[in-house]
Amino acid sequence: MKTYGLSLPGSVYSGEDSISKIADILRANGTRHPVLFTTEGIRQTGLLDLVLDVIPQECGEPAVLDDLAVEPTYGEVQSVVDRCNALEADMLIAVGGGSVIDATKLVSLLINSSVTVKDLLDDPLAARKTVKVICVPTTAGTGAEATPNAIVAVPEKELKVGIVNPEMISDYVILDSRTTKNLPRSIAASTGVDALCHAVECFTSNKANPISDCFALRALEMIMKNIVPACDDRDALEAKEQMLIASFFAGIAITASGTTAVHALSYPLGGKYHIAHGVANAMLLTPVMRFNQPVIGDKLAEAYDRCFEPDGTLTAEQKADRIITRMEEIVSHLNIPTSLKEFNVPAEDLEGLVASGMDVRRLLDNNMREVTADDARAIYLQVM
Ligand SMILES: NC(=O)c1ccc[n+]([C@@H]2O[C@H](COP(=O)([O-])OP(=O)(O)OC[C@H]3O[C@@H](n4cnc5c(N)ncnc54)[C@H](O)[C@@H]3O)[C@@H](O)[C@H]2O)c1
Ligand SMILES: [Zn+2]
Repeated sequence: MKTYGLSLPGSVYSGEDSISKIADILRANGTRHPVLFTTEGIRQTGLLDLVLDVIPQECGEPAVLDDLAVEPTYGEVQSVVDRCNALEADMLIAVGGGSVIDATKLVSLLINSSVTVKDLLDDPLAARKTVKVICVPTTAGTGAEATPNAIVAVPEKELKVGIVNPEMISDYVILDSRTTKNLPRSIAASTGVDALCHAVECFTSNKANPISDCFALRALEMIMKNIVPACDDRDALEAKEQMLIASFFAGIAITASGTTAVHALSYPLGGKYHIAHGVANAMLLTPVMRFNQPVIGDKLAEAYDRCFEPDGTLTAEQKADRIITRMEEIVSHLNIPTSLKEFNVPAEDLEGLVASGMDVRRLLDNNMREVTADDARAIYLQVM
């Protein structure tokens, strides 16, 4: 008999103004030295100020690291860890997308430790969390606020690598609808499709189980219904809020299940060409779903029934076909690039991509249809 389990963040607060809960959290923990992590771009949106405004007086002037890198290398994360060592941090607050959240989660393991980020690439369990983490995601999104994963680029391998350590599941999650209200359309689109990939991959993964299915299917339904208005309509606040919750649910699905060949084959695109994580996944979504369809058709048909009006005249194969087509339409409607030509990737790089993609065994093993090097080559060729 298979066993499966799920670990969740300690407390989750959602809805407009849930950021104000941070004051209660800091007081309840007796926090004196919170450290905030973000990027310069997010600081300029005013979102960091929403958090700074609720920090209780007894914390004094909190330290702010506002120059975190987007999709960082392990070396860049290590330099953040090194800068934190002197700060006597007793609470870490991530205000950002997956890049900021992942770096903050790694800091929570490595602060004042002799273990480095590079060590964790070889042995992800080599360190334990010593400082709690509050995550305030500003994209919808990676779901990194729910997962035990942190993804770093490894430049010498031209690959992105996931470090998985259960201690990286965050202690507090704040899903405040104000954080994604003014997200630029292109970022809302690519990060939203990333969440869609998490949901559909986790639902069709070898690791899928009744607990992960519950979150993956609900996330998929919410995303399919809300992603287009959330990206297109500045005032579609309800749709944006649904996306923020759905991406969190999809993150829970990752924790309980695991992503598959879309994410596996996208890692080299991020590692070698620095294509944004969500864009790389969006590009591979349809080719991988079509490749998987003969094996996951019934699951896709079940997902279709959940996302669309019931239609008794359709066969399971037609339903699977239609949901993949709808995903393809969404990517196209949202103007996400679908070809590596847009990133000037030369044809002669194909074999290198195949070799790197086949290296991501952790995720390829989750794919219900076995992916051979020939299969990976055929999938990459569709986006070359
Ligand atoms: N840990 C996990 O489980 C997990 C899962 C999937 C992806 N990831 C990783 O997360 C990273 C990607 O994260 P992401 O897709 O959330 O994007 P991101 O964090 O890289 O941010 C993308 C850009 O959007 C900007 N931005 C973020 N929020 C904004 C806002 N509200 N308004 C204006 N600009 C904003 C950022 O400054 C940045 O320039 C990748 O490194 C990826 O590998 C992690
Ligand atoms: Zn992802």
